[in-house]
Amino acid sequence: MTYAKIVGLGKYLPPDIVTNADLEKKVDTTDEWIRTRTGINERRILKEREGSSSLAYKASLIALKKAGIKPQNLDLIIVATITPDTLFPSTACYLQNYLKATNAGCLDISAACAGFVYGLTTAWQYIHGGLYKNILVVGSEVLTTITDWQDRSTCILFGDGAGAAVLTQSSKQGFMSADLGADGSESDVLSLPAGGSRMPASIETVNQRLHTIKMKGTDLFRIAVRAMTQTAENSLKKVGLTGADVDMLIPHQANKRIIDAVVKRLGLSFDNVYINVERYGNMSSASSAVALCEAVEENKIKSGDIVVVDAFGGGLVWGSCVIKWV
Ligand code: UT7
Repeated sequence: MTYAKIVGLGKYLPPDIVTNADLEKKVDTTDEWIRTRTGINERRILKEREGSSSLAYKASLIALKKAGIKPQNLDLIIVATITPDTLFPSTACYLQNYLKATNAGCLDISAACAGFVYGLTTAWQYIHGGLYKNILVVGSEVLTTITDWQDRSTCILFGDGAGAAVLTQSSKQGFMSADLGADGSESDVLSLPAGGSRMPASIETVNQRLHTIKMKGTDLFRIAVRAMTQTAENSLKKVGLTGADVDMLIPHQANKRIIDAVVKRLGLSFDNVYINVERYGNMSSASSAVALCEAVEENKIKSGDIVVVDAFGGGLVWGSCVIKWV
């Protein structure tokens, strides 16, 4: 049996901060509304037009260093992003070039906020199946480039950042279980309507602001709570565990109230969940990647702990991984 575990994590957050007070000057909102409805105090913004690959590169260098693995020894690079540098080539290819990871295959995953969980699960299975030994998984987003800065219901939510994980073959079982799900019939609840083959870029699409995130927030909130609870229960059940066995939940950081509801439904204590939404807002695929990295940096995860990474996003998609920290 070939097992897989995480041997290195890294993160990169661009230094420029947008506070709630800054947003009060742009749209009809208040710091109080944003904090009480979302839990967000501030978020990061990448001011330079560098693309997701540049954030991914900085996070990956740290993860590889911690793992003690040279880029040349990577077999595969997976980048989860909904803000790729370009539609093609993939962001993973740009990252491969920056890293000089010349022996790695490259692929991007489009699974919105669940992208890091989809990436971890894919990497785990490539290792488990014996095809590859060392895989880099990155969640990297520059969401501020697809944010409608005139829409107060969405522009308060999103931020930029990247988190990276290096997975390697192991004699001990790290990854234990995963559950991935989707509901394509709800694709209009959260989407970026234009810029693809369905609605190519035109003067009209730009004028109608169709290259920015459109979201039915209240519908999404309800579905997110249900789906994140259910997927965590599903992946735990596959290995005979329940919420009571979870030492650390790493949830997608869309809204503090969503996290609170999921924690309550899973029967967890707030000591067993990592939350950083107040500092970064929603960074889509980067949210759970950065949260996992920070939980480890802050020694909130110790050897032998059961960690669940749990996410939900546009698609709709959701997923969770159960990892024993070895
Ligand atoms: O990454 C995964 C995907 N994202 C999510 O999971 C996000 C899920 N949804 C949410 O987090 C919440 O639904 C939001 C934070 C987006 C909105 O919170 P809500 O409690 O669902 O508010 P609402 O949309 O029901 O709006 C309540 C009121 C409305 O006013 P009226 O119609 O009651 O007069 C909105 O117009 O709040 C108003 N509102 C605002 N007021 C001040 C909406 N945005 C703002 C704002 N500032 N920024």
